[in-house]
Amino acid sequence: MSLLPLNGPDDQRLSELAATVDVQRDPEELALLAGDESVVQPVVPGAAVMARSVEDVAATMRWAHTHGVPVTPRGAGSGKAGGCVPTPGGLVLSLAPMTAITVVHPEHGYAEVEPGVITETFRDSMEHEHRLFYPPDPASLDWCTLGGNVATNAGGPVALKYGVTGQHVMGLTLVLADGRVIETGRRQPKDVAGYDLTSQIVGSEGTLAVIVGVRLGLLPIPREVRTALLGFSSMGEAASALVDARRAGVLPRAMEVVDPVALQRVRSTWEHEGSPFGVDEATNALLLVEVDGPEGTTEAALQAMLDGMRSGPNSVREASSAAERGALWATRREMSKRVKRGALGWVTEDIAVPLGTMPSVTAELADIGARHDLTIACYGHIGDGNLHVNVLWETEAGAGQASAAVDDVMALALRVGGTVTGEHGIGRAKTKWLEDRLGAPALALQRSLKSAWDPRGILNPGVAL
Ligand code: LAC
Ligand code: ZN
Repeated sequence: MSLLPLNGPDDQRLSELAATVDVQRDPEELALLAGDESVVQPVVPGAAVMARSVEDVAATMRWAHTHGVPVTPRGAGSGKAGGCVPTPGGLVLSLAPMTAITVVHPEHGYAEVEPGVITETFRDSMEHEHRLFYPPDPASLDWCTLGGNVATNAGGPVALKYGVTGQHVMGLTLVLADGRVIETGRRQPKDVAGYDLTSQIVGSEGTLAVIVGVRLGLLPIPREVRTALLGFSSMGEAASALVDARRAGVLPRAMEVVDPVALQRVRSTWEHEGSPFGVDEATNALLLVEVDGPEGTTEAALQAMLDGMRSGPNSVREASSAAERGALWATRREMSKRVKRGALGWVTEDIAVPLGTMPSVTAELADIGARHDLTIACYGHIGDGNLHVNVLWETEAGAGQASAAVDDVMALALRVGGTVTGEHGIGRAKTKWLEDRLGAPALALQRSLKSAWDPRGILNPGVAL
């Protein structure tokens, strides 16, 4: 069935919708809902609905299904793959106004939230009001939303020990493409009745159904956390330390890397202000590691990990206070912005590769940069095999080379058995590599699942598949 996009904010069909929900038609307001944090070109939507309730979402989807209007669900717009960039003439369905933590059941170990709750607000509330731990910590946690985290299956540093967002989602309330409301999932750790629809929605980037409620599992708060910044003389040594650390029998909760190019770039942005990542000139790569556990155990755990690392580190600086720890992580969260500073243009990728391939992959990434005469700066979640590969250029000629360089980066990730996106999603930015990643039969099956959920194809067309 064909889609019938809106012909602007005056489209007649909108008055019918505006009778029941809050429809935004002001071009200036709509421009704020056009893009995300990726390099995908923003598209100003035909109109937007600011949803305040499940019923608002259901009414919107009934209307869109009847009229064939494409709908792009949207949280905060912090995504990095263009997954919430609307279709031309499409409707944005903003879940940002739905910000209630609906219920908390400490005795069952879960809470239920509306999709627009900011991730950090939720983590802080669980910790301070209920002494419970919600681990996922994407770098944008102070402004991204939990609904968006579920839609992209967002990661973050502590995913190494605690898993990505999906591992904490116990159930969902969904509005289907035609406006019906369903519940998926469970209220206790186990339930194997029927297909696992929850995990099908996790990471589906707004293409299958609209997430209007999330049940999130909560953990006991680790009693002790220890954070250290390790300096290495080369990226090869840092990458090998990753494998050595596992042999030592310790699973840190986070292990983040900064490669020599990224370190060089961010050093220059810190010259005047000093930085928690400030290190001597002999240090060319960093690992930021964090261990947690019962009281009195983390010192030995960190030491065992360091003892297991056969080459390096040549410096170890432990955070000695909560403030110092906070500063290290704040600095880490700024890497995405800092590393690009001064570049004319950039593309950020988030490949993930099998852990043991990391030393050779990082060496090959440097070769790709040299071959295309581009700067490649990497940092990220090395403990998960997940690297943020920033391809940067300083001249217009560089822009022409970037797409070939990115193709080489993706081909490398796939050749070693890895993936084209470890945490940001396919969105609109990475669709061209999806078939290479999945294979044609699996992609075809995914397309038929999409049709089962969304027979008219109105949910986020052009994203992911
Ligand atoms: C980070 C984002 C880019 O880890 O995923 O900084
Ligand atoms: Zn990341």
